[in-house]
Amino acid sequence: MGEDQRVQELRALKIIAEALNQANDQKTMLNGVLEELLRVTGLQAGWIYLIDENGSYTLAADHHLPEALVGNNKKPMCKGGCWCLDQYKDGRLKRASNIIECKRLEDAIKFKWGNTDDITHHATVPLRAGEEKFGLLNVASPNKTYFSDTELALLESVAFQIGTTLKRIRLAENEQHLLVIAERNRLARDLHDSVNQLLFSLMLTARGTKELTEDPQIKEMLSYMQELSQEALSEMRALIWQLRPQGLENGLVSALMNYGKVLGVEIDCEVKGVVDLPSHIEECLWRIGQEAFNNCKKHAGTREAMLRIEIENKSVVFEIEDFGAGFSVDPSEFIPSLGLSSMKERTEAFGGIFTIDSRLGQGTKIRIEMPVKKEEKQ
Ligand SMILES: Nc1ncnc2c1ncn2[C@@H]1O[C@H](COP(=O)(O)OP(=O)(O)O)[C@@H](O)[C@H]1O
Ligand SMILES: [Mg+2]
Repeated sequence: MGEDQRVQELRALKIIAEALNQANDQKTMLNGVLEELLRVTGLQAGWIYLIDENGSYTLAADHHLPEALVGNNKKPMCKGGCWCLDQYKDGRLKRASNIIECKRLEDAIKFKWGNTDDITHHATVPLRAGEEKFGLLNVASPNKTYFSDTELALLESVAFQIGTTLKRIRLAENEQHLLVIAERNRLARDLHDSVNQLLFSLMLTARGTKELTEDPQIKEMLSYMQELSQEALSEMRALIWQLRPQGLENGLVSALMNYGKVLGVEIDCEVKGVVDLPSHIEECLWRIGQEAFNNCKKHAGTREAMLRIEIENKSVVFEIEDFGAGFSVDPSEFIPSLGLSSMKERTEAFGGIFTIDSRLGQGTKIRIEMPVKKEEKQ
């Protein structure tokens, strides 16, 4: 290889590395780097497929494709299989390689889709970061049927850089997503613990004060206050509910164990059966579990709790137990307080049964038994 050419290649790699280093948006990055790559290599056309773990692909960037492939809204590029995709999917395509012919271009000629610019072959390079695969980079030029080892090596090093950048962008997006989830969970908890509790006290105070007066006008005003605070409470509850429960990406058990860690409650977990619940039940139990572990921490005076989940074919039993302070529950006058009453409401909304068993000095156990209809699984 001539000295000039080597210098030129290094310069090309540097320009591309700089562009990638600054990129924060996948689409802009892929289009930019493809354009730069074609410019520095003198190749004419290029396109990038992103391929997900199920093998479905999307055309993420393209540059100077021949007319035959861009017609009909780029349909020839977005539909049907192709030899490079086949090789990628079955794991044969590990390195940059010459693809003998391009099936899309063959079809273009066969079905007379238009001008192919005399492009018949393309080189294909997988986009990877370590073991992770993201898709394919393809490049081509008129009448070029063979790519030299040096050309393939250059393409490969660019493809590696693209792979690493894709990985970085995705990690950053994921981190952003996790921050949002944490913030929403915090907000929901805070709303429940602060505003909700205050509204609740306001409602009780209005109700209590009503008993202290005989004046009908004041009584009426106080009733009105009570109603208003009741209304505000239900709106607040709806709002908290809408701050969708997130954090369930890795399943209920893992979410609850993590939640325990966040709270500083050590959870001893016992699972019988396979936890593969419909998402609405998972969400419901996740919410209830959060409140129950909160209560352990806040009221039970212990940092240890048991989580039991038992799944049989048509129902799930979900129990959280602590051996802390306990409190006296009057089963006839069930449950004036918000945390416990929303556990009950949530359970009953899906046809389940909520029970709480607690004795002073002996700890507390909540139990939910819920029907599971498999066909509801989303
Ligand atoms: N695990 C528990 N251990 C001891 N007391 C509890 C426990 N869970 C609930 N309680 C009692 O029941 C009350 C109501 O709980 P809850 O409805 O969650 O409201 P909050 O937690 O907002 O006070 C608590 O104030 C506490 O006295
Ligand atoms: Mg509570």
